[in-house]
Amino acid sequence: MTAPLVELRGVEKRFGGVYAVTGVGLALYAGEVVGVLGHNGAGKSTLMKVLSGALPLDAGEIRIDGRPVSIQSPRDARRHGIETLYQTLALAENLGAAANLFLGREIVTRLGTLDDHAMERAALEVIRRLSPHFDDVRTPVQNLSGGQRQMVAIARAIHFDARVLIMDEPTAALGPAESGAVGALIARLKAEGLGIFLVSHDLHDVFEISDRVAVLANGRLVGVRNTSEVTREQVLEMIIGGADSA
Ligand SMILES: Nc1ncnc2c1ncn2[C@@H]1O[C@H](COP(=O)(O)OP(=O)(O)OP(=O)(O)O)[C@@H](O)[C@H]1O
Ligand SMILES: [Mg+2]
Repeated sequence: MTAPLVELRGVEKRFGGVYAVTGVGLALYAGEVVGVLGHNGAGKSTLMKVLSGALPLDAGEIRIDGRPVSIQSPRDARRHGIETLYQTLALAENLGAAANLFLGREIVTRLGTLDDHAMERAALEVIRRLSPHFDDVRTPVQNLSGGQRQMVAIARAIHFDARVLIMDEPTAALGPAESGAVGALIARLKAEGLGIFLVSHDLHDVFEISDRVAVLANGRLVGVRNTSEVTREQVLEMIIGGADSA
């Protein structure tokens, strides 16, 4: 069996006296979506921030392709192909999709001016992987739908050879149609072999999209289940009861 894309072992993160995450071990394989569930304050975002380099871990280990790695910053994480999609999206509203994709890493011509054509071409290529009919990379993103904006944010995240995508509540601010579009995007990324951690409160979404679900309670891992082998009621019980029922 091949090594997991990512493996967390005994991960611990404290804030002063608060054990936000303790002793969590969790693997993510290529082409897999793992839903991360738990009550408010269970430690979901903290665990994801440890992996994305936003918070250094206090104890434990992160392995990529079976090898221990040091992730001290978002830059380290990105170097290992780990990209994070933040709930706020953090798009530049007045710029088009292409400019957003290249924000902070613009392509310039030999004369040092922005190479808009090159950026638009490259942006279209990435975006069409996700949304084959999207063709306007110049319209300011503030004029796009919620689902399209999400797609631009995802395109930006995966643009630089992401292998692992962390999505923390990606559909929290979206309507049903747009949430559906995000689900379709996730399915495409999965088919391309990315591994995805999906943090969500929406059990319905998670069951629809995830191959496995990991439940956290009070910073601890309650259990991991194949989505096809567990009912929503059982998972809800794990979330609320904080104990492994099955
Ligand atoms: N920067 C911080 N400083 C101090 N405590 C923090 C910090 N971030 C998180 N915590 C605490 O760590 C615990 C886990 O928080 P975390 O944000 O990981 O929960 P969560 O599962 O993502 O919750 P939610 O579903 O509400 O997003 C909570 O008790 C929270 O108060
Ligand atoms: Mg959270």
